[in-house]
Amino acid sequence: MSAVLLPLRLGVNIDHVATLRNARGGGHPDPVRAALLAVASGADGITAHLREDRRHIRDADIERLMAALTVPLNLEMAATGEMRAIALKHRPHACCIVPERREEVTTEGGLAVAGQEAALGPLIDDLSTAGIRVSLFVDADLPQLDAAAALGAPVVELHTGRYCDARPGPGRAEELNRLRTAAEHAAAIGLECHAGHGLGFDTVGNIAAIPAIVELNIGHFLMGEALMTGMKEAIGRMRTLMDRARADAEGLEAS
Ligand code: PXP
Repeated sequence: MSAVLLPLRLGVNIDHVATLRNARGGGHPDPVRAALLAVASGADGITAHLREDRRHIRDADIERLMAALTVPLNLEMAATGEMRAIALKHRPHACCIVPERREEVTTEGGLAVAGQEAALGPLIDDLSTAGIRVSLFVDADLPQLDAAAALGAPVVELHTGRYCDARPGPGRAEELNRLRTAAEHAAAIGLECHAGHGLGFDTVGNIAAIPAIVELNIGHFLMGEALMTGMKEAIGRMRTLMDRARADAEGLEAS
């Protein structure tokens, strides 16, 4: 009997369209238009990170995305009172809680869930009560996964940045193993497992082939590639690579 893997969803992060817009002020290019194009090109959901400093996505973008989208919106946000209030006001499909430092260029590492239970627990409870699916962005570190499960978070997103940044070779293979082990552990303790950060055409296949991972969130590479070839081509190729790797993994599972 052949093993049928869970489908793999693609969430497209449109933050960098807002970065480009903000470079000149005004409204062009519009991240909401980009989101709709991404959906038309094969995205299963849209991800946007409302940072404390509003360097890319702004409050009005969240409002407009909520009004325009027919697919799930995954709002990435820091665990602050301000973001909690914004999430509860808009009630997106999902909130991914990320660590945030003002001076960082991008989200550099996963959340330290273990040790921050007192701050994260009430936030997870409040968002969950409002019907929002809460995800915690963590490194491939088993104690963090255990802490996420203990707090009742239904989802974790594994940070794939170290894997993507590692040079091809033993270092990258080791990072991939860590991600695989973490994803298997997450599934074994009842967590839905997502992954993202830094993924591109050359790195997505090995991550898509991990059966326990059911969603990838990809932004920077896809938006950069869309500048060169268009959204349809960039997202279409990413989907093909994901789906092909998944189908190959399914074949291996079955044999
Ligand atoms: N997932 C999370 C939680 C993130 O913070 C980011 C970056 O905003 C991504 C995925 C997407 O990363 P990238 O833009 O490198 O594809």
